[in-house]
Amino acid sequence: MTTTTTVPAARTAAGPGLPAPGRVLTGDRPTGGLHLGHYFGTLANRVRLQQQGCELFVVVADYQVITDRDRPENLAQLRTSMVLDYLACGIDADNSVIFAHSAAPALNQLLLPFLSLVSTGELDRNPTVKEEIRMAGRSKVNGLMMTYPVHQAADILFCKAELVPVGKDQLPHLELTRSIARRFNDRYGPVFPLPEGLLGEVGTLLGLDGRKMSKSLGNGIALSDGPDQVAAKVRAARTDSERRISYHPQSRPEVANLLTLAGLCLGVAPAVVAEQVGAGGAAELKRVVTDSVNKLLAPIRARRASFGPGDAAEILRRGASRAREIADATLAEVNAVMGMG
Ligand code: TRP
Repeated sequence: MTTTTTVPAARTAAGPGLPAPGRVLTGDRPTGGLHLGHYFGTLANRVRLQQQGCELFVVVADYQVITDRDRPENLAQLRTSMVLDYLACGIDADNSVIFAHSAAPALNQLLLPFLSLVSTGELDRNPTVKEEIRMAGRSKVNGLMMTYPVHQAADILFCKAELVPVGKDQLPHLELTRSIARRFNDRYGPVFPLPEGLLGEVGTLLGLDGRKMSKSLGNGIALSDGPDQVAAKVRAARTDSERRISYHPQSRPEVANLLTLAGLCLGVAPAVVAEQVGAGGAAELKRVVTDSVNKLLAPIRARRASFGPGDAAEILRRGASRAREIADATLAEVNAVMGMG
């Protein structure tokens, strides 16, 4: 069940045997509610790392929202609900720096020297950007879409993060970040650590229609979905006509994905869930999936209900002030070694 990857910059577990890294940074685009793919991909790792004593930074990536659309819609509300998602998952806001791109000017300024360290060919080849361009289905691609991975390197490096909990799709951006840090250090002197990625339990949790779980495809289970919404979504999920339930990702991808989802929620292997359902068929499988998702989400819903939009606003205000302080210091250091200070 654990994801393996050939990218040397990534590891898959934040086990107690590993030394606790100092700073951890990650982020999300405020484009809609976070879903279970985010939870198993990165949110659970954030909470775990924080419990191990890491200093957690989370960027609400508002400038990344305008890579594939003309205008950011409902930005204030989406930012707030994303912070509430974090709190609901168990992120301890008192021990984190949660802030928006747009609130940290010096972070954004790092984009300029960093852009000078990458070639346009490198930007063209980024597989995640290519996929996002395909998914956006627009006739024109804007410059921010091509360069946001460099901006993301600024997100990671402004606070000299050492570990970046992400989903698998973000690994190309992490490789680029490491290249930028290495090239900057080679050219101007040692300023940045080379950050490592930390993958979650699943590479890509598929949505209920068999495609990648994605906010824009609307095929995911949101962390804020109520029990009835979960039941309705799972009921509508695709399965197949074979009665006995078995875990065969190649030949039965839809069934395997439901088994993976239930397994992740219950903390057991998908094959164990398959065994349990056995001859119960798709109806029994869906009942097990619904119950297991709702069991996972129950404490998350309860925590969400204990916070309000005022809490989120205050957390973003505090985070912005701390992020600005750190970004100013890093930019001053960068300017100094570049002879611009
Ligand atoms: N690109 C990430 C996503 O779409 C969000 C993100 C922005 C991010 N800045 C980051 C992730 C820095 C990790 C580190 O999910």
